[in-house]
Amino acid sequence: MIIKHNVQLKPYNSFRTKALAKLFCEPATLDELIEVIRTHPHEKKLILGGGFNLFFTKDFDGLVIKPAMEQVKTITDDEQQVEIEVGAGMEWDALVEHCVGRGYAGLENLSLIPSTVGACPVQNIGAYGAEVSEMITRVKAVNLKTGEVEIFSNEECQFGYRESLFKRHPHYAIATVTFRLNKSFAYQEKYADLNRELEGITNPTLTQVREAVIRTRIRKLPDYRLLPNAGSFFKNPLLSWKEKEELLKVLPNTPIYNAGVDLFKTSAAYLIEKAGYKGLRRGQVGTYEHHSLVLVNHGTEEGQEIIAFAQEIQQEVKKRFGITLEPEVQAY
Ligand code: EPU
Repeated sequence: MIIKHNVQLKPYNSFRTKALAKLFCEPATLDELIEVIRTHPHEKKLILGGGFNLFFTKDFDGLVIKPAMEQVKTITDDEQQVEIEVGAGMEWDALVEHCVGRGYAGLENLSLIPSTVGACPVQNIGAYGAEVSEMITRVKAVNLKTGEVEIFSNEECQFGYRESLFKRHPHYAIATVTFRLNKSFAYQEKYADLNRELEGITNPTLTQVREAVIRTRIRKLPDYRLLPNAGSFFKNPLLSWKEKEELLKVLPNTPIYNAGVDLFKTSAAYLIEKAGYKGLRRGQVGTYEHHSLVLVNHGTEEGQEIIAFAQEIQQEVKKRFGITLEPEVQAY
């Protein structure tokens, strides 16, 4: 495996900010991944997926590892379900297409999410009422501190809303993810936007759901290849009953969703829009005109400009509505 020096990371993050990596490699097998970790014990390490959920603010003085394993292996297969183990480097939507094409149900609502298989458990990607954690049975990862392979059950991954053990303790390089998928499918109405898109179709097929998700995403979310971005920049805030009531006093029409016992979710996009930031631009950074939760890059290479704009939004939302917005995207 080739280890490159002084690699420009701009093409490797969808916000297209610039930074140099001192060392950079793309292991194509589990053995190569283990080897590079064990032979570089003292280097700071960063595991890169598609770079769709992070951006750079300065050079990275260490080793960037971009896993490139892409195999799909069937682990179990019976009449009802199939379990497949997939390499971390596979592009996320290629996997969704692969599964939908074979009639394997579970991932279709997550169509077109820019991600890789290895990155999907880290932030527990989710959309249209589904989270990837519902389908994951096992994650195989290499511990960056010890160089040992560790296997995590679903429970051990400690999944939450855009959260996992791997996000909280970022010293693992995920090598494979195992998914359990169903061979039968019945569409469940979970999300208004998607229901609307499928209106008039009785018993939509997997392919019809995938196509509806793709249409909805294309309409609302910018393509990072045309307008660099990292999807939703902030998480939707979780609120207690009291916090929800306080918010409704200042902003009575805020969307509120149930999220558990004494737990409510509100829409970060709505708060940002009501703070006057939808489609607003500061220099080369702004929010997308059709979705205020997506920060977009109109031409800067400096990650610091994105940070400054994000902080301005956080301050304004806090000042007006008393809500703290927490970034979903990670800055390095
Ligand atoms: N809204 C506004 N203004 C806007 C956009 C939306 O007020 O400009 C309000 C509307 O009330 C709308 C509500 O926000 O009904 C929810 O909007 P949307 O359905 O687009 O979902 P979201 O909560 O903003 C989340 C995920 C997205 C995912 C969509 C669809 C997070 C942080 N984001 O966004 O995930 O695609 O749901 O399920 O949970 C991502 O994580 O990068 C991402 C794009």
